[in-house]
Amino acid sequence: MTPSRKLYVKSYGCQMNVYDSHRMADALAPEGFVETATAADADLIVLNTCHIREKAAEKVYSELGRLRELKDDAASGGRRVTIAVAGCVAQAEGAEILRRAPAVDLVVGPQSYHRLPAMLKQAEHGVVIDTDFPVETKFEHLPAPSPAATRKRGVSAFVTVQEGCDKFCTFCVVPYTRGSEFSRPIAKIVAEAQRLADSGVREITLIGQNVNAYHGDDESGRASSLGQLLYRIADIPGIARLRYTTSHPRDMDDSLIAAHRDLPALMPQLHLPVQSGSDRMLEAMNRRHTRADYLALVDRLRIAQPKIAFTSDFIVGFPGETDEDFEDTLRLMSEVGFAGAYSFKYSPRTGTPAAEKDQIPETIKDERLQRLQREIVRLQDLFLANCRGQTLDVLFDRPGRRPGQIAGRSPYLQPVHVMGPPTLIGTIAPVTITELGTNSLSGVLADAPRHAHSLRESVGA
Ligand code: SAH
Ligand code: SF4
Ligand code: F3S
Repeated sequence: MTPSRKLYVKSYGCQMNVYDSHRMADALAPEGFVETATAADADLIVLNTCHIREKAAEKVYSELGRLRELKDDAASGGRRVTIAVAGCVAQAEGAEILRRAPAVDLVVGPQSYHRLPAMLKQAEHGVVIDTDFPVETKFEHLPAPSPAATRKRGVSAFVTVQEGCDKFCTFCVVPYTRGSEFSRPIAKIVAEAQRLADSGVREITLIGQNVNAYHGDDESGRASSLGQLLYRIADIPGIARLRYTTSHPRDMDDSLIAAHRDLPALMPQLHLPVQSGSDRMLEAMNRRHTRADYLALVDRLRIAQPKIAFTSDFIVGFPGETDEDFEDTLRLMSEVGFAGAYSFKYSPRTGTPAAEKDQIPETIKDERLQRLQREIVRLQDLFLANCRGQTLDVLFDRPGRRPGQIAGRSPYLQPVHVMGPPTLIGTIAPVTITELGTNSLSGVLADAPRHAHSLRESVGA
């Protein structure tokens, strides 16, 4: 039998990296690797990295500095620690990582995770790099998690349905780090969702860098849309909640909008990044839609699902952004009434077109970011305040911090705390919201909990 070794995986960046980290752990489980929560006792440390902004990439190098000491300490005690860098920094920087961080043994790009076990064996004899975009897809080779591993990961799970991006927004590295769009066939995704449901998963989030550009083949070889895929997954018994992220406004087609109207399992919450409210900036960013297009789309989705809430991403200080452009963004935010948003200062990324342009001074970026964030907090508070007194269905997923408390998520992903029995964990029950936190809600169980066999829910009140 292979002796047990300890694996520590740390994820940075988007949900795709979280999913990939699980898949790497699944690929290494047959090699005897068991996951640990601390780097200090690990035999193999994997940093699953993000290259989206300079700060994200630099974080990895400071972490690698710390890990070098840990590796040296272990070596002086006669224990070998292997350090692997995976993810988008691995893809973008390849051998440069080994030059800057000599403690690294192995660099593996996002398309090569199925080769990890073989790479580890090679790494015993020297450093290894694999950042190819292979012809065969890793999805065909990555093993499924054991039911026990799935249960440990909780009642909510991610499933990658699409990877890569063909949009080439002028600020973004993703088309270079993840390659061109690839969609998994429907049958594989349905089988994976079914397996997760059988292991107790209740909520599935379909993920992709550009998830609504999904165009995987159905069983008869015809390309299917994300909307069609959602109808298929909603039919799987046990799956009570569905979400998908991240979407591009250009790819919201009729079948996806209809799915919001028709599928009670599809949560009324959509992350729909707009980046800017100025047509001039949208064009410079190559987003290929206007402010009016975005607002019209929001209206259509609200007609299909009146309870829908929107969240977004915004970039401030993109090259050429004037005060007027920025004001247009603030106006768009209140016009839509976002329930929340992520905001970023533009970070020039080598190799992307916008990095070559004249840059906005840092002080202006800072000012705009602060104003934007104040507006986000204002809108988020408004949305939260509106939840008070409502009865929202909550998927309970963990014990609360206080004794006797349990915690879960509302349809809008807000954490919700109530006093209730731990037997409710893994089920959905209506909660009347009585108190608001900074970004969480508390309430009381609204009525006798529904049983596991009637997991389909209706949203809100
Ligand atoms: N695929 C997603 C976005 C992935 S990146 C989409 O198309 O919406 C997540 C967010 O990071 C983006 O929405 C954008 O707001 C931000 N971002 C990407 N590149 C950036 C850069 N160079 N500087 C600052 N923010 C950036
Ligand atoms: Fe990046 Fe644009 Fe693709 Fe999103 S759509 S991943 S922002 S290039
Ligand atoms: Fe970051 Fe790569 Fe995701 S750059 S945001 S980890 S696709």
